[in-house]
Parts: sequence; C-alpha cells; structure tokens
Amino acid sequence: MTVTATAHPNIALVKYWGKRDEAQHLPVTSSLSLTLDIFPTTTTVTVPGDLAFDVVTLGGEPAPDAVAGKVTAFLDLVRERAGDRRRALVETVNSGPMGAGLASSAAGFAALAVASASAYGLKLDRRGLSRLARRGSGSAARSIFGGFAVWRRGEGLGTAGDLSSHAEPVSAPALDPALVVAVVDTREKAVSSREAMRRTVETSPFYRPWAESSERDFHDMLAAIDGGDLAAVGEIAERNALGMHATMLGARPPVRYFAPGSMRVLDRVTRLRADGVAAYATMDAGPNVKVLCARGDGATVAEALHGLADVMAVHVAAPGPGAMRTGVPAHTRPVS
Ligand code: ADP
Ligand code: DP6
Repeated sequence: MTVTATAHPNIALVKYWGKRDEAQHLPVTSSLSLTLDIFPTTTTVTVPGDLAFDVVTLGGEPAPDAVAGKVTAFLDLVRERAGDRRRALVETVNSGPMGAGLASSAAGFAALAVASASAYGLKLDRRGLSRLARRGSGSAARSIFGGFAVWRRGEGLGTAGDLSSHAEPVSAPALDPALVVAVVDTREKAVSSREAMRRTVETSPFYRPWAESSERDFHDMLAAIDGGDLAAVGEIAERNALGMHATMLGARPPVRYFAPGSMRVLDRVTRLRADGVAAYATMDAGPNVKVLCARGDGATVAEALHGLADVMAVHVAAPGPGAMRTGVPAHTRPVS
C-alpha cells in the first residue's frame, strides 16, 4: 500500500508554548494559526510487508537519526492503533527550510499523519487526524486544516485530554490576509522548539504570566477575527509572540532566537506602521520573521523588507489548504 499526502506549514498568531503533558503533547494554552500556501511537505508512506525496520528518507537522502527516530515513534502509534506491526518506507520532501522557525515540523507531521493513517488503513476524520498529528508535533494538529485554525487546549490529562485537544477551522470571511516571510537564516536552530519550550516551562519566572495573558489573547483574537479587524488581529499576534520570546529570555539558561536580521525586520515593520501600512510581526522558534498584513499590502511589505541587510529572501504567502492525500510520490518532487 502506498499513500502520498501534502501539508503546509502554519504560523501561530496566538502561540502554543508549553505542554501540560509531554507524552501526549497536550498544551498549556489554546493557540490559533494561519496555514500558508508556501513551503509544502510531501510525504509518501509505503507498507510493503517485508521490511525489518522503518526506512526514512528526507529530500531523497537517508534521514538523520533524530528525524527518523521521531518518525518511527509516530508510526509505532499508528501501528498500535491499526493492529499492524509491518514496517514502512517513508519518503518525505520539505520545500522550505527545516528547523529554522518556519514550521517544518507542523507540515511534516501533518503530511505523515494523513499518509500513514491511510497506508495502515485507519479511518480517521479530520478531528482524528488532528489528534494524531498532534502526537508527532503539537503544532502539526493545526496544519490538518487550511486557513485559520484554533487548537483548543482541551481538558484534563490521559484519554480525556487526548480526546479534547485537537484543532478545528475558524471561518474568517471578512479577512483577506497575507503573511510575508522574511528569511534571515535558514540554518537549523541550536535549540529545538521542543527543548526550548520544556526549559521555559520548567525554569522561566515569566512563563505563568504569559500563559495567563495568552488565554486572554486567544479570546480577544477570536473576537478580532470574527469582526474582520486585521489591525486588532495583528496587534494581538505581535504582542503574543514578543511575550513568548520574553518567556524564553527568562529561561535558565536563556534561549534567544532573535538575530540581528530579525531586529532589522522588526524595526522596519514598526516604521511601516508609522507610514500607515498595517503590518504586524510574529516570530517562532527561529530568527525568521513573518509579517501579517492585508493581501493588498503584501507587495509593499515585501519590497520594504527586501533590501534590508541580512534578509536573504522574502516570500509572500496567502492562506493555504489543509493536509490532503495527493497523487504524486514524494521522491519525484523537486528538492529545494
Ligand atoms: P521547525 O521550526 O522547522 O518546525 P522544529 O525544531 O520545531 O523546527 O522541528 C524540526 C523537526 O521536525 C525535525 O528535527 C524533524 O524531527 C521534524 N520534521 C521536519 N520535517 C519533517 C518531515 N518532512 N517529516 C518528518 N519530520 C519532520
Ligand atoms: C513557537 O509544535 O514544534 O512554533 O509539540 O514539541 O513538537 P512540539 O513543538 P512544536 O512547537 C511550535 C512552537 C511555536 C509556536 C506555535 O507553532 O504555536
């Protein structure tokens, strides 16, 4: 059985930062994101029946042990549910950078969830796929859905927590956003988001206050989206992200993802606003900056960021689709 699926990264406007259960990836707070139409991951899962162990390739090469290990741990969950012990061939291709704060883990595990569930014969609806993707990487729960999505924290631990913690789509007919991605560094981060998140929860005195204010941000964000108020959406997103980075700066030892190029982009975004362009920045676990604006302002924002020192590339993204089965095997896709 061979199944191919494609998924896109999502960027949180209200962040997921901190787990209340490490094994099940149950978050402390609810989050809200926008799935993009750039940097898709395509993953093909083949279950041939005669493999002694899982074989994982990434971009046509054997995947590094750390990547392959997480894929096998994820497939073990799928196999357990399917009652099928056969090993798999997983061929995955990211079209964006990995480990640079551009959500490769979200696209990667959403694509893997869709392809592997189908290859092992699991019949899951979107909610079930979201819960499954969450087990690979929390943020992947949201990439199952296109456009805006919320991931509600859910209630409790164990089975109750697992059942109630999944993403769902949010309709936003009055918003027509773009997310302009300013790439300042594509190298893999020194501290993974998983490690940074854990360290922050365990050691940062700023973590609890941020988590409390993030729950308020989440509710304010839903109201802003409902009202089609892009400026409010952007303001909430920017303060939520900067607050998340403040929690990391307070961790012991601290985690800092800001690079000089990130600061230049943040300064430029502030100036754009002073010039009357409604643009708002967000950053994840990496130095690259994403700027939310109206789709009609995408080109203006991109042009403003293009010439900045340290900005290697600028991509204008629009809302993209949810994870889906596709017909083209991953190993035939171009690697970039
Ligand atoms: P990012 O900012 O790119 O999401 P993370 O450190 O959060 O960085 O996640 C990177 C990790 O996500 C990789 O080390 C790997 O474990 C996983 N990952 C990325 N791409 C894929 C993929 N296509 N298939 C499976 N796992 C992937
Ligand atoms: C900063 O989903 O990569 O991008 O669940 O440990 O795999 P794990 O973490 P991950 O963390 C994403 C953190 C973030 C914020 C977000 O996407 O909400």
